[in-house]
Amino acid sequence: MAELVFPDGFLWGAATAAHQVEGDNDGSDWWDWERRPGTPCVDRSDLACDHYRRYPEDVALLASLGLNAYRYSVEWARVEPEAGRFDEGQLDHYRAVTDAVVAAGMTPVVTLNHFSLPRWAAARGGWLWSETPARLARYAERVVRALGDRVTWWCTINEPGSVAFGGYVGALNFPPGRTDLRSWERATAGLIEGHRLALLAVRSASPTARAGMTHQLLEWASDARGRPFVEWMRRRNEDVFLEAAADDDFVGVQTYTRVTVRFNPVAATALRLALRVPPLAARVLPPVVRRAAASPTPPLPPGARRTQMGYELRPEALAATVRRVARLLPGKDILVTEHGIATADDADRIAFIDAGLRALHAEIAAGAPVRGYIHWSALDNFEWAYGYRMQFGLVAVDRATQARTVRPSARHLGAIARANRLPDA
Ligand code: BGC
Repeated sequence: MAELVFPDGFLWGAATAAHQVEGDNDGSDWWDWERRPGTPCVDRSDLACDHYRRYPEDVALLASLGLNAYRYSVEWARVEPEAGRFDEGQLDHYRAVTDAVVAAGMTPVVTLNHFSLPRWAAARGGWLWSETPARLARYAERVVRALGDRVTWWCTINEPGSVAFGGYVGALNFPPGRTDLRSWERATAGLIEGHRLALLAVRSASPTARAGMTHQLLEWASDARGRPFVEWMRRRNEDVFLEAAADDDFVGVQTYTRVTVRFNPVAATALRLALRVPPLAARVLPPVVRRAAASPTPPLPPGARRTQMGYELRPEALAATVRRVARLLPGKDILVTEHGIATADDADRIAFIDAGLRALHAEIAAGAPVRGYIHWSALDNFEWAYGYRMQFGLVAVDRATQARTVRPSARHLGAIARANRLPDA
């Protein structure tokens, strides 16, 4: 049987994010958002996976599977609980987490800001506040000074496109729940500036750092009628951030699915018109994008299946996005920082991993400089507004007892990681 061999030194990992797994992140905007009436949140994060206390066992478990990398995030709301007051005890905590990762033989991939903001920054406008970018950079410098000698891979901001879209025009999934194009544009500019300043801070604090953003990238499909809207969305959700990554050390690619966009002829004409006339766009487009955000479940191509999230089950979407990044930013290192599936059937997850890796391998063979594959997620966790119903974990977590159960997919990915190769089906 032919085997697909991955490059030497390839990173094989699993990912988490602080707010989704640590528990009791009660100084953050998300904590408040989960409690605010009228938001679409179906659960509260509460104790999450208690990873804040259980990280030693979780880290040991991931390493025992054969993985050689762990991506996790540092929580800004914990490290800087009040504007300008840094908590050394929390920095010690993240140093201890990082020590555990390194001692277990894994490469840490550390995200500085994974969606949640400290309450004090959110109260001043979140990504609309002119000082948020500089505040992020100051916090980043503290963290990198604390952990820098142990960490090479730094992700400044996780999926800035999702933050800007979900929080400032989509109104549905993310705080602060704004709904206008102007806020979307301003938040986008704030996130890009935050990344730029954080990148400088990371580099000044650690000369050996490799820093970048992680990008939510979709495989888009459309007919001629849908194309103008797709291009408009992709420009705002993806390309502005990829352009802002030109000076980064790597691009973090996070791909979950393919989205197919179709409009009837009347809607397509109206939209094409609106896209050309800015004042009209400001009126017409927010409801359209809100509707799109509200139903991430557009009609699927014939024969396609959905995941628990309602997405098209499409592991190969990863190849389309990696190919696009390799074309837009030639020679730039690519790290797959997330790829995963919410499913109750772990056999689906195994098939998803295999199909995704086969497609990824073809891109590597075609020359894409991919340095690693990090699966989302290590644990079943708090899936933001969707709460605890989504099962993304390689490891299941019992909500009542916090007991961890290793799924076959975890052992499967671990075996691929150990071999650095995938049996070709
Ligand atoms: C985010 C994760 C999230 C995952 C699955 C990504 O957008 O970075 O925090 O849980 O997708 O939806």
